[in-house]
Amino acid sequence: MVTTSNPTLENIVALAKRRGFVFLTSEIYGGLANSYDYGPVGSSLLKNIRDAWWHTFIDKRPDMVGLDSAIMLRPETWVASGHVSSLVDPLVEDIITHKRYRADHLIESWLDQNHTSSSQNINLESFTIQDMADFISKNNITSPEGNPITEPKAFNLLFETQIGAVSGEKSIIYLRGETAQGIFSDFKNILDTTRVKIPFGVGQIGKSFRNEITTGQFIFRTLEFEQAEIEYFFNPDPKNGGSDWQQLFNSWKSDMWVFVTQDLGINPINLRWRKHSETERSHYSLDTYDLEYKYPFGFKELWGIAYRTDYDLSKHQEKSTHKLHFTDSVTNQSFIPHVIEPALGINRAFLMTLCDAYREDKLNNRVVLELKPQLAPYQVAVFPLLKNKPDLVSKAVAIRDQLLKSKSKLRVTYDDRGNIGKRYLSQDEIGTPFCVTVDFNTLDKDEVTIRDRSTTQQEKVSTTKLEHYLVEKCS
Ligand code: GAP
Repeated sequence: MVTTSNPTLENIVALAKRRGFVFLTSEIYGGLANSYDYGPVGSSLLKNIRDAWWHTFIDKRPDMVGLDSAIMLRPETWVASGHVSSLVDPLVEDIITHKRYRADHLIESWLDQNHTSSSQNINLESFTIQDMADFISKNNITSPEGNPITEPKAFNLLFETQIGAVSGEKSIIYLRGETAQGIFSDFKNILDTTRVKIPFGVGQIGKSFRNEITTGQFIFRTLEFEQAEIEYFFNPDPKNGGSDWQQLFNSWKSDMWVFVTQDLGINPINLRWRKHSETERSHYSLDTYDLEYKYPFGFKELWGIAYRTDYDLSKHQEKSTHKLHFTDSVTNQSFIPHVIEPALGINRAFLMTLCDAYREDKLNNRVVLELKPQLAPYQVAVFPLLKNKPDLVSKAVAIRDQLLKSKSKLRVTYDDRGNIGKRYLSQDEIGTPFCVTVDFNTLDKDEVTIRDRSTTQQEKVSTTKLEHYLVEKCS
């Protein structure tokens, strides 16, 4: 197969819309900026990524438990965690159009357009808001429309809403800006109801919300997004039976790498680690790395890992006045655990998976998604060779239903539109690894034709062995 990869963002957006992976939110009303819906095959791919993460990090690990905490927490949570004061972006405003932009993004694109030897040495990640203000004024940076802009100001990303039915009795509440705070606030409940021993981790997947203003990066940066976060609690004193944070940190980095390259099947050539500078690091972290993927718009953060120390539990202990200690039943030591936090964006993993799997097969004039069978929205598509032959149709429907009802939980679809070539092309574009055609041989000899998405090779398989064949290939 002669293929090219490295799609543009336009290739991915077009495929996502054409085949029902991703839609604009509220498209019939003109869309909502930085908001997307996941269509029939997109929601399936998203679920398969989510399930793979849960299986690897919760189900298969003796040191992990799961959680599903609420999106709206008591507002004190976000004051204690520092998000009310520190979850901020540096924003500037176009003084003519009043549109807002991220100051760091304007500087980044100015640097891209003005390659000089001195600009190459600039590390934007370490810029403070004042550094950005100075740089913008020194270089006369304007808005994308060419208009003057205001000085950068810190803009809080937390979404506010109100609870309470009666006017005047409403109180402000935040939509969570990270799933992590639900884990910290339930820390005591988890200790009281499980048999976890330190070190242990709590993982959860759920929606988080940030008032992002940057547009044009498709599902990479959105107002609402899904996070899969782990807080891994440990005793930070290696001399007293605890763990060396650096060793734990490295071992989590290695687990993250294995998940992305093996479970999600991503080509390691498109991945790299990047350490945060001191000014870039979040207020709670002593050390942070990003696992970055080479998206069509460059290497960008997929998955962060931070050493959050005992910052959050200490702050919540102080604010709530509840003791948030772990007591070791053997040594009787009582302490506030430290945490290492691997925090993945499920939507960024989705975008990465689409980009990495995208191929243009020039020889066969098709686009094909080389998704791992475990992740593909459908693993099998069943077709009758001809739509107007009732014998073929009823046999194909019977085979589809048999596969759907089987214990193997294969994801199966059925297609009888157009000709067989068109059906192959549409299944290739959504990454279905196997197409099963019911033809006259099936009626005579009980054999179907199986066509492999990646090689386009076809082989005959007896209907009695079909399920076993597919399960073997898809697991
Ligand atoms: N609890 C730590 C935390 O929230 P973060 O780096 O801000 O850290 C973790 O977020 C992950 O969530 C990121 O690596 C990214 O994949 C994802 N993420 C963050 N903001 C996002 C957004 N606006 N849209 C989509 N994904 C986002």
